[in-house]
Amino acid sequence: MNPLIELENITYKKQDKSILQIPEFQVYPGEFLGIIGPNGAGKSTLLKLMSFLDKQTSGNILYRSKLVPPGNAPLDLRRKFSIALQQSLLLDGTVFQNIALGLKIRKIPRKTIKEKVELWMDRFQISHLAKKNTATLSGGEAQRVNLARAMIVEPEILFLDEPFSALDFPTKIKLMEDFKAIMEGTGTTAVFVSHDLMEIHFLTNRLAITINGEVQQSGPTKRVLQHPNAAASSFLNKWKKFYPELSSSQFPESKLKTAGINL
Ligand SMILES: Nc1ncnc2c1ncn2[C@@H]1O[C@H](COP(=O)(O)OP(=O)(O)OP(=O)(O)O)[C@@H](O)[C@H]1O
Ligand SMILES: [Mg+2]
Repeated sequence: MNPLIELENITYKKQDKSILQIPEFQVYPGEFLGIIGPNGAGKSTLLKLMSFLDKQTSGNILYRSKLVPPGNAPLDLRRKFSIALQQSLLLDGTVFQNIALGLKIRKIPRKTIKEKVELWMDRFQISHLAKKNTATLSGGEAQRVNLARAMIVEPEILFLDEPFSALDFPTKIKLMEDFKAIMEGTGTTAVFVSHDLMEIHFLTNRLAITINGEVQQSGPTKRVLQHPNAAASSFLNKWKKFYPELSSSQFPESKLKTAGINL
């Protein structure tokens, strides 16, 4: 299968400090790709380069095998992507207005916008919040609005940078479960940055372990977790103390049950 995005010999430097060095890396259509690693590993930088929010210092990024001019990705390409961050960054206004925004910018007819906003509010179970001002939402509600806003434009790739990190555990589990079902229903390609192995284990089917600006290991999530190389092990072992189940192919249900959550 041809990749959607390809990185070739990428470096990213700031004030002469090397932040990323990635000889090659790909995003494949339909996958849910996880990027995990410690603080400062370069995960967010990698996501910003792949979504053309930032420009590499050297190397090439290709979209569908075509070179994208560094720092100058065309608007029609950038509009194929959606990005959801840890902070939902909602605008002042109602939930409906926020979710409608991407379609409004694309000059979609008002009737179609209304239908689509209603559909995506329904999918994220936030229809009852339509008229609420975003300033009054809980953290979990705001993140549902954020994800609906990102998905309504039917992106070719959804980029996610720690969207669940600020949520309390039960809220996070419920949203991840709903989100996973929605993503499986649409088949959207996703690139998901997290430092939480449980989130990665639950959501992703391919995983890249990033440490010190390098992708140390990538492959199917379960295989990487079961057979980490030496560099990946040093990161994963810290997690396995808390989630021994992660080395098996099972979701860590016992931990969830301890927290009073039934899947
Ligand atoms: N604009 C910048 N100027 C200087 N240093 C930067 C800049 N952007 C990122 N860095 C540095 O690059 C490194 C990687 O940052 P990045 O935000 O990509 O890490 P991360 O893996 O997402 O970390 P976290 O888990 O804390 O979100 C860090 O050491 C950071 O301080
Ligand atoms: Mg980050």
